Amino acid sequence: MAIEIVATGRAVPPNRVTNDDIAEKIDTNDEWIRSHTGIGSRYFAGENTASSDLAAEAAKNALAMAAGYTGGDIAERDRAAAEAAPAIDIIILATVSADYYGTPSTACIVQDKIGAVNAGAMDIAAACTGFIYSLETAAGILNINARRKKALVIGVEVLSKLINWNDRSTCVLFGDGAGAVVLEKKDSSDSGLQFSLLSADGSGNESLMIKRGGTRYPFKNGEVIDAADADRSICVGMNGQEVYNFAVRAITDTINALIKTTNINIDDITHIIPHQANSRIVQAASKRLQIPIEKFFLNIEEYANTSSASIPIALDEMNRGGKLKKGDLIMTVGFGGGLTSGGNIIIW
Ligand code: ACO
Repeated sequence: MAIEIVATGRAVPPNRVTNDDIAEKIDTNDEWIRSHTGIGSRYFAGENTASSDLAAEAAKNALAMAAGYTGGDIAERDRAAAEAAPAIDIIILATVSADYYGTPSTACIVQDKIGAVNAGAMDIAAACTGFIYSLETAAGILNINARRKKALVIGVEVLSKLINWNDRSTCVLFGDGAGAVVLEKKDSSDSGLQFSLLSADGSGNESLMIKRGGTRYPFKNGEVIDAADADRSICVGMNGQEVYNFAVRAITDTINALIKTTNINIDDITHIIPHQANSRIVQAASKRLQIPIEKFFLNIEEYANTSSASIPIALDEMNRGGKLKKGDLIMTVGFGGGLTSGGNIIIW
């Protein structure tokens, strides 16, 4: 039995925001952002766009590809996606910027938007490792029941609506977007998901958090939110230095553990697709592990940090760009809020 990625898709909002655009709003500049993070631009959702909207677009692109359509005509794409959607058995959606807190899940809203009428649907919150956790979860759900054949796995974020514009060291980091893959269970195949490593260190939960709005610090009727007060607002708060140190450790340890557990030689890996948080983190890991930087796929310059969406966006960009060949050995590696970390080994 094999769980193969048979199609990919992505979606970003049309509004591309450069570092210079951000520098018009806050005290920063293109040189600082590029040299400290590798980021050149990001995409921000409009007022009426929520995570489920981007997720549904990415899902439709993946479903259309699964049905054999990769062209640019939206009506044709929608027709192909609508044809493929009813065959999906389960939708797993990774996000930390859901349409709503708690319920309904964003996955359920996407299920309705794309017409996946036969699919179960649920969200996973594992921050920037969310897509890695979701792939393994979807594969497990397909494997445990002979009648389930296909899953849709989505990573999506609209972090621009959760940014604290008074904190210049975090507000420049994030972008919005979605990536999706269609998984199919095959009786026999040399391709597919081979192994996943899922880790967490909850003792670091306060290093990266959206503090307000949950049951620990709920909003109260009549409360006025002051965006300048990080402790009282609903924005992403991060101890950058702590997260940076964790991230370098996590990416290095995860790659080492994946290699050791699966007995793979690093030279046999065609591409490492890291979570796109900061190109300095990837460069530090590449140096520590003595793995050439060219093995790591980086697109953070264009999209910034899209958390749960960064790995599936990268997968789709590589797939549609012809960078992935059948038989390629691919490693994903992620790290983020929770604190979580992990990785997948996939044969394309
Ligand atoms: N523009 C200009 N100057 C800035 C900016 C900015 N946007 N932000 C901070 N600075 C200044 C600071 O004020 C400080 O100035 P000072 O020395 O005069 O006081 C100086 O730059 C250094 O500030 P630091 O916060 O120490 O900058 P650092 O080098 O640590 O970089 C960064 C900050 C980029 C956030 C880094 O800590 C980092 O990458 N952390 C990890 C983030 C991450 O990977 N998150 C991933 C998980 S998050 C997720 O994916 C959901």
